[in-house]
Amino acid sequence: MAEPAVPMQSASTPEPEVRVGAVPRPAPGSPARAPGSIDEIIAVQEEIFCERQHESRRLAQRAGLTLAGGVTSSWQITRPQPVWLSHGQGSKIYDVDGNEYVDLHGGYGAALAGHGHPAIVDAVRGQVTLGTHFAQPTPTAILVAEELTRRFGLPLWRFANSGTEATMDAVHLMRSITGRDLIIKIEGCYHGHHDSVQVSVCPEEADIGPARRPAQVPSSTGIPRAIVDLTLVAGFNDIDAVARLLDENPGRVAGMIIEPIMMNAGIILPEPGYLAGLKELLHSAGALLTFDEVKTGLTAGPGGATGVTGVVPDIICLAKAIGGGVSVAAIGGTEEAMGHVADGGYEMVGTFNGNPLAMAACRAMLCEVATPAAYQRIEALRQRAVAGLQREIDRNGLAAQVVSVGAKGCVVFTAEPVRDFRGFLGIDDSYSQAHWLYQHNGGVFLPPWGKIEQWLISVQHDQADIDRLVTNFAAFAAALRSLG
Ligand SMILES: Cc1ncc(COP(=O)(O)O)c(C=O)c1O
Repeated sequence: MAEPAVPMQSASTPEPEVRVGAVPRPAPGSPARAPGSIDEIIAVQEEIFCERQHESRRLAQRAGLTLAGGVTSSWQITRPQPVWLSHGQGSKIYDVDGNEYVDLHGGYGAALAGHGHPAIVDAVRGQVTLGTHFAQPTPTAILVAEELTRRFGLPLWRFANSGTEATMDAVHLMRSITGRDLIIKIEGCYHGHHDSVQVSVCPEEADIGPARRPAQVPSSTGIPRAIVDLTLVAGFNDIDAVARLLDENPGRVAGMIIEPIMMNAGIILPEPGYLAGLKELLHSAGALLTFDEVKTGLTAGPGGATGVTGVVPDIICLAKAIGGGVSVAAIGGTEEAMGHVADGGYEMVGTFNGNPLAMAACRAMLCEVATPAAYQRIEALRQRAVAGLQREIDRNGLAAQVVSVGAKGCVVFTAEPVRDFRGFLGIDDSYSQAHWLYQHNGGVFLPPWGKIEQWLISVQHDQADIDRLVTNFAAFAAALRSLG
């Protein structure tokens, strides 16, 4: 067999020298020009980026031979090229070129514990030696369910392995309980990659139709039109739109699924009374309400967006952060909703559901990591980030705002308040991409995908981490101001 083009790093390979991020400056040899446009800022930062990522580039080329598209999920394709990581520790992650980053990507919002947290390490290590999978329940699952009940106010729980599975089960359950086929979802909300919710996730402006009646746009190829037609679409913060859909489809709507705080379109907060109004409206039509708290659960606060808003839905979906970095999901519900599972009306199944490894990590996350003290610490860091970023926005006269809730936050590059997906769609994404590059070259790894994503502050971040975020932003803001 031919020698691989790129040698894999083995245990005996010396660790590369760690390079700590600094305020971005042109790499040696890069053209000395003052950027005159946002596109030029991006071009300069991409040069710096590529200069720091030689090993990543080599791995990407090799990976392309056996991994479809050279990555393990299409969302790992960052621009201008994927960044291959070697390891993480505490609040930091390290790429294969030896660059250190403050990790505010958080694995798309899952790494609330940070990396190598002792409580998670102990829990996982302890369980690995006792068996990772039986497909029979283990006592830890009860502890996890009890703690979720305490935090989210819903009595009955089951587990799964990803956010997609959780929302898929929630949709099935709403249909099974009501015997109805239609569901309502919000334009711009993402709920995973199963058919029923792959509708109007991030549609193009040309396809969205009128605001009063948003079009049902498949978000991917491979989604049957017949399924798309079963998913009705409404705008966020538009309760009248939901009332209209219910009126037009009497006795046909099983329920509605919603991110109670939108977190796949920057961050968009629900207006006062909106979520409570939805619940009332849906119940009066015999339909159910599901909160997709895959992103907000544990990160918006100890009891997720449910705790923040005080509105308890019929069903809650959790995943990402609850596993402390291990793959797990949970579906909670009222006696009526999950009672339908308990009495066999809907079979909620899965080989790895509630496996002991995931349950051990989940218990540690809930009982030892996501503690009241940890939330206090995160809140102090959130305030520090918001104050620092807002100061730079004001100082440089930028049309931008900081939106944050709990451990999550983002800079939104528009001065206008955003209340729904259509407002979000109008934001020029190039500013977010340029910001991402500035942060990256300055040693802060924000989630890629521009204006869509948010930072995640973990329980292991500290003030110096937040200050690095603000310092990089200050450099970016000054560059924007110089554009005039
Ligand atoms: C709100 C929301 N729901 C569901 C999902 C799907 O979760 P998973 O990627 O674990 O399937 C995501 C993923 O980003 C999400 O943001």
